[in-house]
Amino acid sequence: MCGIVGYTGPQRAAPILVGGLRRLEYRGYDSAGLATVEEDRLILRKRAGRVRALEELVEEQPAPGGAGISHTRWATHGPASDRNAHPHLGGRGGEWRVAVVHNGVIENHSALRRELESQGFAFASQTDTEVIAHLIARELESTTDLFEAVRRILQRLEGTYGLGVVAPEHPGEIIGARFGSPLVVGLGEGEHFLASDPVAIAPHTARVAYLQDGEVVRLTPDHFEMRHLEHGPITPRIDRLDWKPDAVELGGHAHYMIKEIFEQPETVVDACRGRLRRGEATAVFGGLNLTDRQLRRIRRIVFAACGTSWHAALVGEYLIERLAHLPVEVEYASEFRYRNAPMDDRTLVFVLSQSGETADTLGALREARRRGHLTLAIVNTVGSSIARESEGGIYLHAGPEVGVASTKAFSAQVAVLAMLALYLGRLRHLSFPDGLAVVEAIDSAPALIGEALQSEPEVERAADRIAGVRNALYLGRDIHFPVALEGALKLKEISYIHAEGYPTAEMKHGPIALVDRETPCIFVAPRGSLHAKTLSNVEEVRARHGMVLAVGTRGDSTLAERADIFLPIPEAPEVIQPLLAVVPLQLLAYHVALRRGCDIDKPRNLAKSVTVE
Ligand code: G6P
Repeated sequence: MCGIVGYTGPQRAAPILVGGLRRLEYRGYDSAGLATVEEDRLILRKRAGRVRALEELVEEQPAPGGAGISHTRWATHGPASDRNAHPHLGGRGGEWRVAVVHNGVIENHSALRRELESQGFAFASQTDTEVIAHLIARELESTTDLFEAVRRILQRLEGTYGLGVVAPEHPGEIIGARFGSPLVVGLGEGEHFLASDPVAIAPHTARVAYLQDGEVVRLTPDHFEMRHLEHGPITPRIDRLDWKPDAVELGGHAHYMIKEIFEQPETVVDACRGRLRRGEATAVFGGLNLTDRQLRRIRRIVFAACGTSWHAALVGEYLIERLAHLPVEVEYASEFRYRNAPMDDRTLVFVLSQSGETADTLGALREARRRGHLTLAIVNTVGSSIARESEGGIYLHAGPEVGVASTKAFSAQVAVLAMLALYLGRLRHLSFPDGLAVVEAIDSAPALIGEALQSEPEVERAADRIAGVRNALYLGRDIHFPVALEGALKLKEISYIHAEGYPTAEMKHGPIALVDRETPCIFVAPRGSLHAKTLSNVEEVRARHGMVLAVGTRGDSTLAERADIFLPIPEAPEVIQPLLAVVPLQLLAYHVALRRGCDIDKPRNLAKSVTVE
């Protein structure tokens, strides 16, 4: 949550900062600001609202200078306002010595604030960040080294931070620091970038160095140096972003969400690339760091995740139970980390996360490791905290996901989990022919997802019908229950219609009380083992004059006749049906939100990556 961009080099900083913030806006978007340094002058521009508002401000009142920091905010302490927007300035007596942008939460900010106030530092905002600015300013009264000043005050901070700092007496210099909130340096030719997410700087450079917790960096146009707070100077590892050139651009689409929905066939190809082994009827993963022998000893799997990743994990539960006969539990990461869940040494823990930075999921990972469990990650963002701190895992290779409502990451996760279920199954009882059938099913998924995407016109007609409703029920059985949950989440996230997902048959134990002509019941019901039972549940809704939308197999006239609106997906083996059934639900949420005039890529109150508990 919140985004940081910094730049130092021969170009004007402000346009680069604003461009970077635009790409980061999905991380928080209630206010934005920047500070540049020109010669020994500090220039501050900030405003409540979207990055566009900041851009207008900078058009009216330019911010010259070749070095600067900037921020887009998701409020934690203090509402969204011009004053609470970052950067925050530090100094006393009206002499501003430093500007700071900060992601994370400083837990001891009240005590620090009292201390600083008693020494004549006046506070202009309600944020926890402002204490950092004043602390650095106080240090700069006794040292001329900005790097040293920042390093000293970090010891006083309790909580989490990703920081960017500039000072008018240090033109051309940016200091960054990380503890619990991501930060990455971008290396250009005679210029350097700082960002909380490589998405912000990807158009400028593919060479990056990720900071680890406890590391501080000093950037000038020609030089960068890193230190660990306790261990002193370190040699940074330079990574390359292997993203496609248009990965973070809209490419003619109106929104990132729809772009990413339509990318899904390719996403699944990328997630499966090199991993399916037809000859052995299995899948392989390079980074699990476990031998087949170790994996055969496993008696139970626990998945911990949040949001959409949690739904993907639920699909994984059905798949692994079905193909590998292993007991699986799916936990909300936020609950798992504080529970006394009994687990033995034959339990394998997987955390799932698109961003790799979700605070609760990272907390669950750390807790599982602390207890001594083998802990692996299924993660999209290379170099993220979760990727680094797990003992091994599987990358999704989905490329950057920018739309706040997760879509293609879900598909990549489900594809990876299907391959994992196949692999674990083949280590146990799953026969060659059964394994091969799964390989073929997964192989066929991208083309079938492409076909499912062709249902967009039908989905648009459905969106016309339901755009005005206040509630919606999503119902699915077995492997489609998590798809129903995911469909409901998509709708509520971006259209603000209240939506709930239930196992289809559970409907009659309560939710059926909500059924009326104005409450669509959206059945996820492709042909499969429990199809006949689902048809009875559809009848129960019809008998109460409920509105039935059904996602079903193309040509299923029995279901189509019973539905007010039928959304067809292609015929497919059950193991990959969730990948197809989710498509019309994603499209439905998108088109409903469009009709309601919602801000699809930046839904109210949400953020893409939730790095606070
Ligand atoms: C936030 C996002 C969701 C996402 C969840 C988990 O709530 O708005 O879209 O599913 O975090 O994120 P992760 O990056 O860990 O998958």
